[in-house]
Amino acid sequence: MNHLAASPRSRVLIEGEYALTQRNFDQIAAFLRDETGIALTEAKATLVYSRLAKRIRKLGLASFDEYCAFAVSPAGAGERTEMMAALTTNVTRFFREPHHFDHFRASVGPRLIEAAKSGARVRLWSAACSSGEEPYSLALTILGLCPDIGRYDLRILASDIDPNIVAKAKAGRYREDAVAPIPAALRTRWLSRDGERDGMWTVRPEVRDLIVFKELNLIGDWPMRGQFDAIFCRNVVIYFEEATQAFLWNRFKNALTPEGRLYIGHSERVDVAGYESDGLTVYKLSGAR
Ligand SMILES: C[S@@+](CC[C@H](N)C(=O)[O-])C[C@H]1O[C@@H](n2cnc3c(N)ncnc32)[C@H](O)[C@@H]1O
Repeated sequence: MNHLAASPRSRVLIEGEYALTQRNFDQIAAFLRDETGIALTEAKATLVYSRLAKRIRKLGLASFDEYCAFAVSPAGAGERTEMMAALTTNVTRFFREPHHFDHFRASVGPRLIEAAKSGARVRLWSAACSSGEEPYSLALTILGLCPDIGRYDLRILASDIDPNIVAKAKAGRYREDAVAPIPAALRTRWLSRDGERDGMWTVRPEVRDLIVFKELNLIGDWPMRGQFDAIFCRNVVIYFEEATQAFLWNRFKNALTPEGRLYIGHSERVDVAGYESDGLTVYKLSGAR
């Protein structure tokens, strides 16, 4: 937290309504890396400026120096969360990278549904769920295979570091254009239209009940005890340094059941020992069935 302490003048990176100095940038980048694992290079100075200038304006502060000093103060605890939320990227879509849902539907889902029907505990994890499109896509894929899955012990943990985005995910309310990628049969059965005029759709309670939403930092403590039959951790480690990525891939090895599958983003790769490929950006533990 000391990274954000007030500091003497240093080189100005961005001139503007408020000057963003090298020292401000370094303090903010160190805070973000320590709290979230996200690595910000100086190429992101414009992004830092534009996202945090809004916060400075909203708080009625005069400079990035004042902002950093406030964020580190005891009164700034809430602002540290806001800063993190402002600097993370929440872009997501229903059925993003659809080959993962095809893979799950064809080779993982049927086996897990059979296990759940036989009384097994089945757990899935959307580990950086953003506004919920990923865990709902997974839930809809499962409901497409087994509409009464809610009767069995199959649940999805949907977690993200950003409490605001987790609240949005939990609400399960989306604009018409956001729900367009959901196959029509699933959309009409498992979402409801909120009214002719506002064009919003809400995920039905039967879908939401399959999912447990939690705030969770992937590089912090994990309160969960049990293992997961599939982990979707997509388009988040791309923002981490390589060592943090490796730390997380190794951590997931203990969090996966022996036959578990790990789904990662299209521009990510798992390069630690102990995994083997099970398809495009899908991994299983070495030697697993
Ligand atoms: C680009 S979104 C990816 C959403 C979804 N997985 C997908 O592929 O569409 C990245 C998400 O990672 C979250 N995130 C960033 N750092 C995190 C961390 N250390 N722990 C948990 N979530 C994190 C962000 O809040 C953001 O919602």
